[in-house]
Amino acid sequence: MHTNRILLGCLAAIALTGMVACSSTNYGDDQFQLRMAAHGKDIIWMPTKVETTHEMLTLAGVKSTDILYDLGSGDGVIPIEAAKLYGVRAYGIEYNPDLVALSIRNAERAKVQNLVSFRRGDIFVEDFSQATVLTLYLGESLNTRLMPKILAMQPGTRVVSNTFRIDSWIPDREIKTRSGDMAYLWVVPAKVDGSWAINGLPRVDKANLVIRQKKQFFDGSIQSPNSRTIHFEDGRINGNQLEFEYQDGATKYSFKGQITTGQLTGILNNDPKLQIVAKRAAPQLSR
Ligand SMILES: C[S@@+](CC[C@H](N)C(=O)[O-])C[C@H]1O[C@@H](n2cnc3c(N)ncnc32)[C@H](O)[C@@H]1O
Repeated sequence: MHTNRILLGCLAAIALTGMVACSSTNYGDDQFQLRMAAHGKDIIWMPTKVETTHEMLTLAGVKSTDILYDLGSGDGVIPIEAAKLYGVRAYGIEYNPDLVALSIRNAERAKVQNLVSFRRGDIFVEDFSQATVLTLYLGESLNTRLMPKILAMQPGTRVVSNTFRIDSWIPDREIKTRSGDMAYLWVVPAKVDGSWAINGLPRVDKANLVIRQKKQFFDGSIQSPNSRTIHFEDGRINGNQLEFEYQDGATKYSFKGQITTGQLTGILNNDPKLQIVAKRAAPQLSR
């Protein structure tokens, strides 16, 4: 079905551009000519437009220190443009060996061969866990198959997808590109689900912070033996950063913190005197 959507996009492009966008002669070189919608392993080949590539890289906030991986890298346009624009180390994993060879030649022509590498492989087998930026133009069902691996990546990894969402994972940002397609950004959230022994909260002091996480969102409660349980909603995680608000009596508190090596540290109401530390607590047995 998603293959069909990409194919339909190609057919629409043919209708709109009089074959320019989908002409097989526009891609490849004297050694290998590409046919738009050529057979790929799990999805056909269609290129991300250069202009859209630039918009995706901006959406991801790429910096020279990033490590970018494009899964199903086709003719290499995304890693090559990323290296050209940002001087970033960029990798492509592609199943079709002709496309891998073409992308290597394209990188040489663009004079970024020292920054980019392409390897032949299956995106469901190859390791891309060191990426800090991951780019996708694969279709929603392949994105969804990749989701468990993506969620296990380093917190803060930015994932940008051309056109297609990842299952029901709500994007952190989305844009309509100048060509009219959507591009989506997700930031891999730290894992905060569970129980934390938290110290330093005003009026409560020692308590149990229980977090129920749904990707980059969470709600939870603050449970203490000497005060009533306080519930809160709408917590947000951005990579290793998290924030939530709660109400204790007439006072509203806003917590901003970060996860470092399994510890949660932060401050309340931007007041440096209200430093909070939480450590993972043993899970409580539910009754
Ligand atoms: C829609 S194209 C996107 C190409 C490139 N990422 C871009 O945005 O221009 C999808 C690419 O994924 C490749 N592909 C499909 N299944 C794959 C798999 N299991 N492992 C690696 N590459 C795959 C196809 O050969 C094709 O080049």
